[in-house]
Amino acid sequence: MSATATLIHYTKSLTRIPVHTPSRSYEVLVERGLLRSAAAALSDTVPLEWRVFVVTQAPVRKHWGNILRKSFSKAGRKVEIIQMPDGERSKTLSQLEKLASKLVSCGADRRSVILALGGGVVGDVAGFLASVFMRGIPVVQVPTTLLAQVDSAIGGKTGVNLKSGKNLLGTFYQPLAVLADPDVLATLPEREYRSGLFEAMKYGVIRNRAIFELMETNRDALLSRDGALLETLITECIRVKAEVVSADERESGKRRILNFGHTIGHALEAETDYQQFLHGEAVGWGMIAATLVGTEMQVTDSLTAQRIIGLVRAYAPLPRVEVNSEGIAKRLLSDKKTVGGVPHFVLPTEIGKVEVVNTVPERAVIHAVEEIKKLSEA
Ligand SMILES: NC(=O)c1ccc[n+]([C@@H]2O[C@H](COP(=O)([O-])OP(=O)(O)OC[C@H]3O[C@@H](n4cnc5c(N)ncnc54)[C@H](O)[C@@H]3O)[C@@H](O)[C@H]2O)c1
Ligand SMILES: [Zn+2]
Repeated sequence: MSATATLIHYTKSLTRIPVHTPSRSYEVLVERGLLRSAAAALSDTVPLEWRVFVVTQAPVRKHWGNILRKSFSKAGRKVEIIQMPDGERSKTLSQLEKLASKLVSCGADRRSVILALGGGVVGDVAGFLASVFMRGIPVVQVPTTLLAQVDSAIGGKTGVNLKSGKNLLGTFYQPLAVLADPDVLATLPEREYRSGLFEAMKYGVIRNRAIFELMETNRDALLSRDGALLETLITECIRVKAEVVSADERESGKRRILNFGHTIGHALEAETDYQQFLHGEAVGWGMIAATLVGTEMQVTDSLTAQRIIGLVRAYAPLPRVEVNSEGIAKRLLSDKKTVGGVPHFVLPTEIGKVEVVNTVPERAVIHAVEEIKKLSEA
């Protein structure tokens, strides 16, 4: 039986994935329809006497707010829904202050819990808020985008942006629990959904060949959001993220492999003022670029490179890359993840394995960016 076939077995049942960090141990729960039984799923984690505040955004509230509320009312519990504006532009300190004031006026105290119902923006802002409100109240992450389910909701990174840069203020603050319901992705805009698939693909390249193969063999079903496949894909990606975060909470060593595709990806986003690419789309191009760098550095063999590039392109469309390649190379040197002035590159050695390399010369980066520019014209 192939690895892919084995993977598709455990669908439609509650999966619990443990995350162990020095600051907290918790579980990520994954199940289709989980939002409808959220209160029951949290009954052991969130004591009855705690007040529950849901932080969310209009598009998410419209589709899922009442479903979450009902799950609590079935359990005889009330929730207060607090809405924040949509979009990356609401990841600010002033938004954090508004939400905190709202919490106070609604009577939140230290025996309150925040449920972050939304994508990475809600998760980052509500997580940050929880970490500092009254010196810290618990947060449960309820991610509603594919990116948030497989990535941002797990690991405890929170933050807001400053004018001078993204995520410059933030905390490490692990949630009490994470509830991932693949069904909520049904209402996600198509471009957001596809963008999340590139982040999922990353886990296949860095750690789990079966994820990669699942995406290779089931492209059409995944693009049409087949529930069972999606549950399997999300579960396996979360396992990788949970394992890596458990080994390295603060990104000093092993967690670095999660940056595959992100070195050039982040630079592409910044160079285009965050206007041209969704995060996952930039990571899509970034994975191709890193693979090309890997080939040039003789770390990645050509068959592996072809498979990675082929898989990213199979989940196209990706926006055109129209940047100055020298500009991208310069940005890498000022990247906050750069250590000692040398960009750490995560390069594939085979599907499911990567190496962190810090000897990539500038010209290899420029060459890779020139190549993705050409590919994006095709
Ligand atoms: N903390 C971390 O470790 C981490 C990791 C990666 C990214 N991030 C952050 O995540 C953010 C991006 O998150 P994102 O990609 O989830 O974008 P997002 O949170 O902006 O959500 C994208 C859009 O989809 C809408 N939406 C969300 N769920 C929906 C649903 N189920 N149905 C319909 N609409 C829905 C949102 O309202 C929004 O308009 C960035 O700010 C990034 O910095 C954080
Ligand atoms: Zn990412």
